[in-house]
Amino acid sequence: MSEPLAVVTIDGPSGVGKSTISRRVAARLGFTYLDTGAMYRAVALRCRQENLAITNEKAVAAILPLLNIRLLPARSEQEETRVILDGVEVSEEIRTPEISMLASAVSALGPVRSALTRMQREMGATGKIVAEGRDTGTVVFPGAAWKIYLDASPEVRAKRRIRQLRERGEEVNEAEILAQIVKRDRDDSERTIAPLKAAPDAVRIDSTGMSVDEVVEQVLGVVQQQQKAG
Ligand code: DC
Repeated sequence: MSEPLAVVTIDGPSGVGKSTISRRVAARLGFTYLDTGAMYRAVALRCRQENLAITNEKAVAAILPLLNIRLLPARSEQEETRVILDGVEVSEEIRTPEISMLASAVSALGPVRSALTRMQREMGATGKIVAEGRDTGTVVFPGAAWKIYLDASPEVRAKRRIRQLRERGEEVNEAEILAQIVKRDRDDSERTIAPLKAAPDAVRIDSTGMSVDEVVEQVLGVVQQQQKAG
């Protein structure tokens, strides 16, 4: 068998704290953080900018070869991955509730998944990355050395998302955010291609009631333990 790829995959539903945890784990390991959701968000934003109906798979597929998506590391703990779409920074525009829902919809399209999966594999080919998303352990990097599936109750996840949006100065309707989280989970888990699910060899961590630091330590523990075993 070939050597496992030096990649940590962290998958799980929205609002579970994947990005904060992945960023910190990457920093501790000296790995690069790969935010795959940011790429789906960039495609969604471009569809909105071009007024493309997400149901028009052919039209969406046609814009994919023309897209240039670059990811830059966040400059502070409070920031997410910075995204440059065709030379223009769109880091804020891609993180609105509207684009979140649209990203979930475009991510169900086969051509979008294959184009982005290919790009993600290229980005991770040299190893030493922490890849975060919905299918990084199942589809993008099935040969990853360490796989984590993070989960938490929808209520806890909605609370975290509400806090994040408020910190960014956005007005939020709490019931609406919870409903969006529940809908996005259902859509992400029930789609035919690369649905959200734990890889059979993933370690599951339920972060309900855990602090970010505790989860980070658990993930690092998995890496260290499996390194010893290997
Ligand atoms: O992680 P996020 O909220 O930024 O992801 C936005 C959407 O992109 C999410 O609803 C599902 C989709 N996504 C995906 O299908 N596969 C991934 N690997 C990452 C994200």
